[in-house]
Amino acid sequence: MAQTVSNHGRFPPHILLLLCALLFHSLLAIVDGNTGGTWLVADVQSLYQKPVCSPPKETNSKRLPITHRSSPCSPLSADSRPSHAQILKNDQVRVSSIQSRIRDGKRSFSVIVPAKPGLSLDIGNYVVKIGMGTPRNDFYVAVDTGSDLSWINCYPCLSCHGKPSMLYNPTRSRTHTDILCNSTDCTRIDQHYCSVYKRCNYKVIYGDMSQTNGHIVRDTLFLSGFDTLPNFIFGCGNNNTGLFGKVDGLIGLGRDNISLASQASSKYGAIFSYCLPSVTSTNDGYLLFGKSTLSNTKFTPMIKKPSSPSFYYLNLTTILVGSYPLDVSSTVLTRDPGIVIDSGTVITRLPPVAYDKLKTLFQQLMDYQNYKKSPPFEILDTCYNITGLDKVRLPTVSLVFSGGAVLDLDIPGILYTPDRTLTCLAFANTSGGAYDVGIIGNTQQQTFDVSYDIANQMIGFRQGGCS
Ligand SMILES: *[C@@H]1O[C@H](CO)[C@@H](O)[C@H](O)[C@H]1NC(C)=O
Ligand SMILES: *[C@@H]1O[C@H](CO)[C@@H](O)[C@H](O)[C@H]1NC(C)=O
Ligand SMILES: *[C@@H]1O[C@H](CO)[C@@H](O)[C@H](O)[C@H]1NC(C)=O
Ligand SMILES: *[C@@H]1O[C@H](CO)[C@@H](O)[C@H](O)[C@H]1NC(C)=O
Ligand SMILES: *[C@@H]1O[C@H](CO)[C@@H](O)[C@H](O)[C@H]1NC(C)=O
Ligand SMILES: *[C@@H]1O[C@H](CO)[C@@H](O)[C@H](O)[C@H]1NC(C)=O
Repeated sequence: MAQTVSNHGRFPPHILLLLCALLFHSLLAIVDGNTGGTWLVADVQSLYQKPVCSPPKETNSKRLPITHRSSPCSPLSADSRPSHAQILKNDQVRVSSIQSRIRDGKRSFSVIVPAKPGLSLDIGNYVVKIGMGTPRNDFYVAVDTGSDLSWINCYPCLSCHGKPSMLYNPTRSRTHTDILCNSTDCTRIDQHYCSVYKRCNYKVIYGDMSQTNGHIVRDTLFLSGFDTLPNFIFGCGNNNTGLFGKVDGLIGLGRDNISLASQASSKYGAIFSYCLPSVTSTNDGYLLFGKSTLSNTKFTPMIKKPSSPSFYYLNLTTILVGSYPLDVSSTVLTRDPGIVIDSGTVITRLPPVAYDKLKTLFQQLMDYQNYKKSPPFEILDTCYNITGLDKVRLPTVSLVFSGGAVLDLDIPGILYTPDRTLTCLAFANTSGGAYDVGIIGNTQQQTFDVSYDIANQMIGFRQGGCS
């Protein structure tokens, strides 16, 4: 699908001069005698065409298959697949919610996007199948590194989608235990309260008053065919108003104590990894607890901010476009409020200064291809009309992190392609100015093995993760 083309000697001298005048850094890169620009060639069809599903193969028992909600392999019904415009609108709501939560230093344990009239709730886009209880029942839940508490639709339910028989019913599970209000299991959950029966209840209210509410229980969690995590603590959601993207619940992979990442650490070690499949590919993704056997993973320090303990921060130091570094000081990217990595955000958000430089450099390089510009599409403002083209040539984009980890983005990580006529640079600014956190979104993480080595405080990336 993609090939990297070195651009040695491609630019005529007058264009090189212009490029050098515009981009001081690129002058250095070129006279350094390194490569010249690096380019990718995308087959237009591969940018948007959805292949048919080849169902996940469950060969490796330790890996849970991850599916994109909108992919042909999605277990969710087609009517729960939003349009691209809707996905990007929802994404902005999620990002605003993460940003305000970090700005206000709230320790609320979820950033699920609130449901607004006409706006379906979007929790993360990627779903996995888990099992719960004895006998086991299976549920499709969203995967979210921005949340800590996990929860599933629970019987009896005042407001859940699906049939009552499809809900988790703790009283029918031999292995379930209720959690009492005076236990430390209860008090370590931020938004708990005591029921009249001294049960540990929880309630999460999102921005628009949509909510999940229920009681905290422990039961056996099945992570894949054979792996179980007994006594997993999660929310039994008896009253979940809002659409919740038609999934059965949520798996919180945040950094705080109650998350699955923390609870699984006694069994698997404090390390998990995932590969998010690209929507346009047939490769399966996975979620894996415990140490991965992959080699060649490059790591960057996992940075913690006490004011927002659920999030995984990292230091993005520069971005290379066509191998040319952006002309911004690394402190623009690393200074407070910093940048988090999030599995639920779709499009990467950069501080406005950095995003402006990225888009300018990208546009300048794309201009050599004479592609027709197109008006902005939702939050994406650097768009091209690709009607009639079979191939698109685009500069490479690499995200460089401290410690030597680099995300050399795959084509679907650079271009977001709503349909066969339109493709856009898949980045946006944080929009709120200097006080809003930046986010590495899932479009850019697609197809990489991303490991969260919490024990060693490192985040790693490895190319070709899903294949
Ligand atoms: C919690 O309350 C129950 C009943 O009210 C009591 O039996 C139990 O000992 C208490 N546990 C703790 C840790 O206080
Ligand atoms: C989470 O765990 C850490 C280390 O075990 C502990 O210091 C901290 O108090 C815990 N936080 C909560 C909210 O329980
Ligand atoms: C269920 O949630 C709604 C709000 O979303 C609330 O108005 C209602 O009182 C709740 N019902 C119960 C029994 O808690
Ligand atoms: C990340 O960047 C900040 C701000 O430049 C710096 O203070 C900190 O030491 C860096 N952390 C690591 C682990 O590189
Ligand atoms: C793209 O260009 C074609 C003609 O080449 C035109 O018909 C179409 O309306 C354009 N699409 C957009 C979104 O501008
Ligand atoms: C962020 O990008 C949007 C769209 O390009 C632009 O309208 C807005 O002014 C930018 N915000 C900042 C703070 O630069």
